Amino acid sequence: MSISLAEKLEEIKLQALQKLKSNTLDETSIEAFRVEYLGKQGKLTQILKDIGSLSSEQRPAMGRLANEVKHMVAQGIETVITELKRKERSKNLLEGEMDLTLPSRARYQGHRHLISKTITEISHIFSKYGFQVGEGPEIESEYYNFDALNTPAFHPARDMHDTFYITEKTVLRTHTSPVQIRTMEKFKPPLRIIAPGTVYRHDDDASHSPMFHQIEGLWVDTHVSMGHLKGLITAFVQTFFSASTQVQLRPSYFPFTEPSAELDIECVFCKGKGCTLCKQSGWLEVAGCGMVHPNVFKAVHYDVQKISGCAFGMGIERLVMLRHRIPNIKLLYENDIRFLRQF
Ligand code: PHE
Repeated sequence: MSISLAEKLEEIKLQALQKLKSNTLDETSIEAFRVEYLGKQGKLTQILKDIGSLSSEQRPAMGRLANEVKHMVAQGIETVITELKRKERSKNLLEGEMDLTLPSRARYQGHRHLISKTITEISHIFSKYGFQVGEGPEIESEYYNFDALNTPAFHPARDMHDTFYITEKTVLRTHTSPVQIRTMEKFKPPLRIIAPGTVYRHDDDASHSPMFHQIEGLWVDTHVSMGHLKGLITAFVQTFFSASTQVQLRPSYFPFTEPSAELDIECVFCKGKGCTLCKQSGWLEVAGCGMVHPNVFKAVHYDVQKISGCAFGMGIERLVMLRHRIPNIKLLYENDIRFLRQF
């Protein structure tokens, strides 16, 4: 009995291995093969059952042998299935079910923030008019932020800026105008600089943030006039917004310029007809500007008899919001990727 069982097992093993190696099995027949040998009624399963009727001396050795064969067959099946899958894949690739010439799916690439991009763009526009980029610290002394800009202590104009004080004499700069002083201290006229940077004011609503960005312009030479100023900013506005954007200068006051003006652009929403955004005026304010005050030149020891200059300061967020119709300044700082990706 045990001899015939061993022979039977050997025969099943040979048969099975031969079939597995024959290369004739496909997805359907491999499953039938599995059932034939390892299924509930399968040949090997049957043998394992028969072992139960052997004597206790014969049982362990036969059991081990039968399990070995079972394991061998199971592994052989796995190998065939893996090979079938591999063949199927390369067949699909070759027969063009997958088009390998198609471009891959576009991956989203990050980019610089809208504010940074705009600063670069504006600096680039002014560079064409011969302006170089200057800079200064964000933590600034009262002297540069106010005094040297003709705004001594107790000057009412200090109230125009809700200043963050760091110490009694140090502030977070409230505007980029201190860069005017720092540049003129370092360089002799003539000079043309543009100074973008972060500024701080105690101010917070839909169009104001306690931290925002400005870009300062300063042009000093022997015969700089209000006409130069207007020509320059008009050229800028018409490059930045559109060639047909109208501008106007409206008299204003800054301690460090005389005369001073606000630069308005024709309302980008209603094209000057009047709407809620421009408060029916048809104009939107985008910059403060004017002719450099003699006291400012005196502070940096420039000869007020020989030179003149004009200066302007624009809010970057304001320009960006108008250009892209962004209703709330906070959108620019929340870093919501769905918002930022649009630019
Ligand atoms: N510094 C002024 C402000 O922040 C703007 C300005 C700059 C005005 C230069 C005139 C000349 O409001």
